[in-house]
Amino acid sequence: MGGISTPALAAAVSNAGGLGGLGMWGCSPEDAARRIAGFRQQSGGSLNVNYPLWPEPGFTAEISEEMRRHLQAHYDAKGLGVVPEPQGAASDVSPEHVAMLVEVRPEMVSFHFGLPNPEIVQAIKAAGIFVVSSATTVAEARMLEQGGVDAIIAQGTEAGGHRATFSGVPVSMQPGLFSLLPQVVDAVSVPVIAAGGVSDGRTAAAAFVLGASAVQLGTAFMRCEEANLRDAQRAALAEADDSCTLVTDVVSGRAARYIRNRLVDDLVGSGLKPLPLPAQLSLTSPLGDSGDREWTVLFSGQSAALARNTNAAELVQRLAEETTQRLRAFA
Ligand SMILES: Cc1cc2nc3c(=O)[nH]c(=O)nc-3n(C[C@H](O)[C@H](O)[C@H](O)COP(=O)(O)O)c2cc1C
Repeated sequence: MGGISTPALAAAVSNAGGLGGLGMWGCSPEDAARRIAGFRQQSGGSLNVNYPLWPEPGFTAEISEEMRRHLQAHYDAKGLGVVPEPQGAASDVSPEHVAMLVEVRPEMVSFHFGLPNPEIVQAIKAAGIFVVSSATTVAEARMLEQGGVDAIIAQGTEAGGHRATFSGVPVSMQPGLFSLLPQVVDAVSVPVIAAGGVSDGRTAAAAFVLGASAVQLGTAFMRCEEANLRDAQRAALAEADDSCTLVTDVVSGRAARYIRNRLVDDLVGSGLKPLPLPAQLSLTSPLGDSGDREWTVLFSGQSAALARNTNAAELVQRLAEETTQRLRAFA
């Protein structure tokens, strides 16, 4: 979860018996190594290091200026000054990142939006690191298996954060986890990790019954005290309900699920084409500096209301207990 995931959060998850993850969204190899060292200081457990992959965000000055002009009125209303120039470079796993990974050897490396080139996957695997990536359709799962992953995350549409899709399949055609998971399990021979809406013992048990070998939670961990979140995001998650989110590309430049607020409505209503990820986010995210929930980027999955304000150790422990109880009850 990029900067929302902290070494303290990942360490608390791993110390409680889960597999903590650290997002390396926009991190230099030095920053990434520092984050991993921060984890190692707090945990002797296993670590997943995550790299989202996207190309250089290309856009014309005309598109950028139109978006900046549109947002300027909102910046003015919040006293936030001039809309910044859009920022953001390609996100890939550079040779320096690979060298760092091979040296510090996190137990797992996961990717979002597909896989890097085969040489990089091979170099990471050759270091004994378990490699995974997310699929939003059966076709994507097959592509990942062919690409050499050790396991596949099946990401249902319930999920918070960015849609992991890398094959161009439209969001409205992507399946929810209940449909996706058993079909991916049938289609591939590697273990499948269920993601999207898993938040408590019931949902985790259901994923195992549908064939998952593990579950991955994002939104539920956002409600943990170790997560790096704005107050407005915390408050919005605490009041979320089942139908408050939507998937759109207007906020970041790539499809992701958010709690609907005025920021989303305004951008959708503007009809303007967003800049590509992450350039669009560099323009929209600062509006959250105002502290106003209506203008803050509110990433969330559909099951935020099933989660609680807690800490990561308690969440992992409760999940393990409740899931076991549920599975025993059905056995
Ligand atoms: C705020 C947020 C940021 C996320 N960022 C990433 C990311 O950088 N890389 C990644 O592989 N998955 C990312 N995810 C997706 C999760 O890995 C996972 O698919 C999702 O959270 C599961 O659904 P849930 O949110 O309902 O638990 C993110 C999720 C959230 C909520």
